[in-house]
Amino acid sequence: MDMKQIIAGRIADAAAACFEGCGLCAKDVAGMLEIPPEKKMGDYALPCFRMSKTLHKAPQMIAASLAERCAGEEIDHVEVVGGYLNVFVARGCMARGLIEAVLSQPGRWGASDIGKGKTVCLDYSSINIAKRFHIGHLSTTMIGHSLKRIYDFNGYTTVGINHLGDWGTQFGKMICAYKKWGNREDVERGGVQAMVDLYVRFHQEAERDPALEDEGRAWFKKIEDGDPEALEIFSWFKEVTLKDTQRVYDMLGVTFDSYAGESFYNDKMQPVVDELREKNLLTKSQGAEVVMLDDYGMPPAIVLRSDGATLYITRDLAAAYYRHNTYHFDKCLYVVAYQQNLHFRQLFKIIELMGNDWYKGMEHVSFGMVSYEGRALSTREGYIVYLEDLLNKAVEKAREIIEEKSPNLPNKDEVARQVGVGAVVYFDLHNDRNKDIDFRWERALNFDGETGPYVQYTHARCCSVLRKAPDLSDVEPDYGVLCDDEACSVLLLISRFPEIVRKAMDANEPSMITRHTTSLAQAYNKYYFEHRIMEEGDPAGTLARLNLTRAVADVIRTGLYLIGVEAPERM
Ligand code: ARG
Repeated sequence: MDMKQIIAGRIADAAAACFEGCGLCAKDVAGMLEIPPEKKMGDYALPCFRMSKTLHKAPQMIAASLAERCAGEEIDHVEVVGGYLNVFVARGCMARGLIEAVLSQPGRWGASDIGKGKTVCLDYSSINIAKRFHIGHLSTTMIGHSLKRIYDFNGYTTVGINHLGDWGTQFGKMICAYKKWGNREDVERGGVQAMVDLYVRFHQEAERDPALEDEGRAWFKKIEDGDPEALEIFSWFKEVTLKDTQRVYDMLGVTFDSYAGESFYNDKMQPVVDELREKNLLTKSQGAEVVMLDDYGMPPAIVLRSDGATLYITRDLAAAYYRHNTYHFDKCLYVVAYQQNLHFRQLFKIIELMGNDWYKGMEHVSFGMVSYEGRALSTREGYIVYLEDLLNKAVEKAREIIEEKSPNLPNKDEVARQVGVGAVVYFDLHNDRNKDIDFRWERALNFDGETGPYVQYTHARCCSVLRKAPDLSDVEPDYGVLCDDEACSVLLLISRFPEIVRKAMDANEPSMITRHTTSLAQAYNKYYFEHRIMEEGDPAGTLARLNLTRAVADVIRTGLYLIGVEAPERM
């Protein structure tokens, strides 16, 4: 039961009665309905300005005519203000249908099958081999993971792809360094950090002895030519990196369907390059082969270097073809920092110029930078925060808070993990993704305010109320008790949840769900403080309030699930 659809239906009926043959259907009206910025302007508002053109009447006149005919048990009253028809939803009435709808399918409020038969590829996290996972990777990982859940929730088939950065001359240098100064045990024990150390050492030594650079290049050539020793070391580097990273993915609950990374496309680029050449899209420029894009306000994209080497974009071109041919995607999303904006604009344009209309489904889902406690991260200055350290610290801090607030909680370790990790993830997905984020402990782990722990705590509060509930299985709930302002705010937020999920999907913006779920938690807390849920001598009212609580818990849990945050039942 979606209140907006119902209201839209009532207005469409009124329109059909007032303006015969106007052809306005409920769907059109739903598309026009707005949510007013202030409560006194109603729960929904219909701007009549656009209709004024087709109906040749003043907007106020249209609103006034509609107001006369617009009725139904769901509508308390309507008001005409300017060119708007403001609708006030009947309190109490909304409660029954809504709560019953939510409770009839736990965990599915807001789900749909609009993506049935369609496939979305999501390229996210896409880590680089032999580099440590730092907090700069958090957004791509969590936005991608959240979007995957949101698309799944709407019936799409999703393919999560970790497009590994596992190609480049640096791997030749690393093998060279490993052969000279490394050994198996140190790398097995030290993991990625040991590889990073080898790489740093390579550069230090190469400053004194430039011949090392040639050796590094020679090792890379060996990888390219398929030399068994080089390949063995290289794939072992990959294994070590993935094993290290897996610990972080496990903490975050993030999974992938494919790890086809850059090296996977080694043997898949030639056909694409041939096609580019056939279609006369390649131009020679200082020995390199480029696609000229100045007609589109972009610098040329280098596809082949003068020594014949391929580039990042060459691999992405092959990857796009591969994904299209393999998954027949309707959408292919790239969750990558906004610094790569130009790269993706070039990529999509080239796919288009090659005559593929499926370029339309490709989209760069960009996001801003993360700084830590007010300071920009910088590898050069050695100011890096590793994601695993951050998550562990968050869990530790959560554990301290739990120890202080609820010392008798069972399975404290598990809850500390859910709360600590949840705080970090929530913080990351709280603002519009293109905004830069400054991670601050006191803001992320605060139990008051717009934080993960706050929302989780509200959910746990609902669960705790429900645990204390008496058995009312033979009672008919009296939803008439849910007609006060606080209950209505809660109900409206629940009724808008499906629409928010859809909007979040259309905009690839998980933060819309984060913020809406937070508003719901706030509204419920307000309700909770102003009303007694369990009232002696009023089982019917009590059951209605308990069911409201049950619905809130369910929708908060779903909202958190969609952004990749767990919802413990006790905190
Ligand atoms: N590994 C790349 C980086 O860290 C991101 C790859 C994004 N995906 C892609 N298909 N280009 O910058």
